[in-house]
Amino acid sequence: MSMLCLGIESTAHTFGIGIVSGEGEVLANAWDIYRPPLGWGIKPMDAATHHREVRDRLLEQVLSDTGKTLDDMDLVAFSQGPGLPPCLYVGLEFAQTLSGRGRPLVGVNHCIAHIEIGRLASRQKNPVVLYVSGANTQILSFVEGRYRCFGETMDIGIGNALDKFGREIGLEFPAGPKIESLAKGGSYQELPYSVKGMDLSFSGIVTEASRRVRQGQNKRDMCFSLQETLFAMATEVTERALAHTRKDEVLLTGGVAANNRLQGMLEIMCRERGAEYSVVPTELAGDNGAMIAWTGILVHRSGMRTISKILPRQRTDDVDVGWL
Ligand code: ATP
Ligand code: FE2
Repeated sequence: MSMLCLGIESTAHTFGIGIVSGEGEVLANAWDIYRPPLGWGIKPMDAATHHREVRDRLLEQVLSDTGKTLDDMDLVAFSQGPGLPPCLYVGLEFAQTLSGRGRPLVGVNHCIAHIEIGRLASRQKNPVVLYVSGANTQILSFVEGRYRCFGETMDIGIGNALDKFGREIGLEFPAGPKIESLAKGGSYQELPYSVKGMDLSFSGIVTEASRRVRQGQNKRDMCFSLQETLFAMATEVTERALAHTRKDEVLLTGGVAANNRLQGMLEIMCRERGAEYSVVPTELAGDNGAMIAWTGILVHRSGMRTISKILPRQRTDDVDVGWL
């Protein structure tokens, strides 16, 4: 085996550790998700405490899953941002402890890692990427050294929009999967639709959907309609980015990529335009350590240097991509 990288994810709710080989084989991937009390969003300090509590157990687990020891790791990668500072610190500290004795330590951008793990699985070379997760919604593609952002949310990410609506109707975090199953029995009611140029805005729609439920509208109908509206908006902008860039591949990635209805919409759009559609495997869609490990390998191999610091506000398009 050419090389082994241990990757650590800790940007928000999930603490994860993965081990990936230089050939791109995911050898182990374990995580544990902090769950805020019902009715609350993430409390950053509590999430950081959670991460400190689970990290040693997860490390033991990935090492025993692979039959390896820490000394077998050639590289340690950690997610340096964007994310919640208290959570990011736990990952950085842990990575520094584990890298020890001269083993290279690589800082990885969390959003780029969502893209690269999707690209590894799909083997696509140069897709238009729809990256949809909790805090982020971006339509990106590689142009001249970076993943350029062609469109993005102007307020909250699509996952947070779903989670916020879920909180309003009494669903536990993360609400995305629960809304997906409730939506199955629902019918369509029109909601505001908010695409501005190439950018998206979700929070007003969530406010309106929540208001309607409080006024007695059927929850299932609102779950269905919210999904239809938010996903159609994201699909519209992805289609336009595809037309502008004249590319012929689309990659759906990030936690919300696990949603069947979003997958279906994007697949239809791609078929109609003659583009190749691909989606990140569900087990690699949400935050995980394997995506950090794999991106760490790409960064390391490209000879790029990173700093051992957290970068809580680093944007996807701030990062030089030296491996493409
Ligand atoms: P970011 O990558 O922007 O920092 P994050 O790290 O919080 O965000 P991920 O773990 O990538 O997010 O994704 C979590 C989000 O995905 C949550 O908002 C959750 O509700 C949503 N999600 C998970 N499964 C589904 C699903 N089946 N349908 C819709 N949303 C889903
Ligand atoms: Fe994420």
